[in-house]
Amino acid sequence: MSFLGIDLGTSGLRALLVSAEGIPIGSSERHYNVSHPNLGWSEQDPADWITAFESVISELKNTYYEFNNLKGIGVAGHMHGATLLDSSGSVLRPCILWNDIRSQAEAKRLDATDQVRSLSGNIVFPGFTAPKLEWVRKNEPEIFNKIAKVLLPAAYMNFYLTGDYVADMSDSAGTSWLDVGKRNWSDYLLDVSNMRRDQMPRLVEGSEAAGELRLEIKSKWGLSGKITVAGGAGDNAAAACGIGALGEGQGFVSIGTSGVILSSRDGYEPAPETAVHTFCHAVPGRWYQMGVMLSATDSLNWLAGITLKSPSELTSSIGDKLLRPGNVRFLPYLSGERTPHNDAEIQGSITGISANTSVDDLTRGVLEGVAFGLKDCFDALSATNAKMDQLTAIGGGTASIYWMRLLATILEVPLNLPEGGEFGAALGAARLGMAASVDKPLEKIIIPPIIRETIDPDTSMQSVFCEAHIKYKAAYPSIKSIQ
Ligand code: XUL
Repeated sequence: MSFLGIDLGTSGLRALLVSAEGIPIGSSERHYNVSHPNLGWSEQDPADWITAFESVISELKNTYYEFNNLKGIGVAGHMHGATLLDSSGSVLRPCILWNDIRSQAEAKRLDATDQVRSLSGNIVFPGFTAPKLEWVRKNEPEIFNKIAKVLLPAAYMNFYLTGDYVADMSDSAGTSWLDVGKRNWSDYLLDVSNMRRDQMPRLVEGSEAAGELRLEIKSKWGLSGKITVAGGAGDNAAAACGIGALGEGQGFVSIGTSGVILSSRDGYEPAPETAVHTFCHAVPGRWYQMGVMLSATDSLNWLAGITLKSPSELTSSIGDKLLRPGNVRFLPYLSGERTPHNDAEIQGSITGISANTSVDDLTRGVLEGVAFGLKDCFDALSATNAKMDQLTAIGGGTASIYWMRLLATILEVPLNLPEGGEFGAALGAARLGMAASVDKPLEKIIIPPIIRETIDPDTSMQSVFCEAHIKYKAAYPSIKSIQ
């Protein structure tokens, strides 16, 4: 038996094949682009996801014989994206992504609407799905009028795989249409944003079956027998499943395109007066809370782009030994910010440069700025009583030991680095695929990884970084309160 986890990410699609024991067998990845047709806009053509998907499948199929024993599939997707389909299931326009900030005015209106925060459990951020649809209604009415279904990216993949419109709770919680406490679409929330329940996919838990792999795909892949497609998950809930974080006190810090601090919660304790997100987990009866910063590795990628170096050249040049805070102060608000500011207009900045400032100084400044932004998320989550005595660190940014030492010191918690390369959203998705297709308790499938190394905070540096964090927060006088 084997299971497939798909991580439909912002920069590419990754597929991971795991054994019946949940051990990674092999993976394949393809990259695609994000288009920015206007300032602050961020879109992707769902056809690119399918092209990438078919290409990774043919590689896995040709490389690993275990692919022929595929029993279950799970998809994790970047959250909040609006994929609009007409009544024949055709895509009406490019998907508007999570980091697109065009719908600020619409988000503001919905957020101020009575009961919206209390029912959805969250602020309506411009990146969430409901305000995107309001933007389409106002600006592209001919498209809006043809919408038969709105699918999140992972649900679009579920549709491609099963032919059915099905979404999981964890991803759906980021739409502002879900009653997150009741785990059901809210007619009221749909109504205030001019949507209808029939335009929504059917809801299942992430670990439940969404349907079966379509016959046509099965025969194309040369497979037979029943292959179950799970509900799947939003990428952060899937990553939590990948590191076994289901219960209170378990969580991660992820340094990817976005930066996330996530803490699993046993119950539903929303904090909609803050910019902390409270979403359903991908398994029944559980929720999680997270703080999201929009430009984490994206900040380093930006510096890499303008210095004509790769991100790893930049980080390897500064070595692994943690240095005191530098003079360069970088505010990582390249695409606005969610937690804790909820400010789509906030901009990044660099201060503290002089004639002597080197590229290494700039690199340290960027790593520090991102780490301070994550500390803001951490503090916002701590204020909701989320327990975070230690965190598992995941995402591309963990390749830099300097960044990990810096982050552990600034967050003042040990960071656990998992062994091996597979513990993120793709593994979580494969685990959901397994949970939906075999009779095995979730707790035996969604388990913590073996830890390769724990990075402890450097206590000798804590006070200087604490002072630098205070200066970081003060550096941007126009930072507004979230209200
Ligand atoms: C979460 C969020 C991002 C995306 C992309 O709210 O917007 O983390 O899921 O990874």
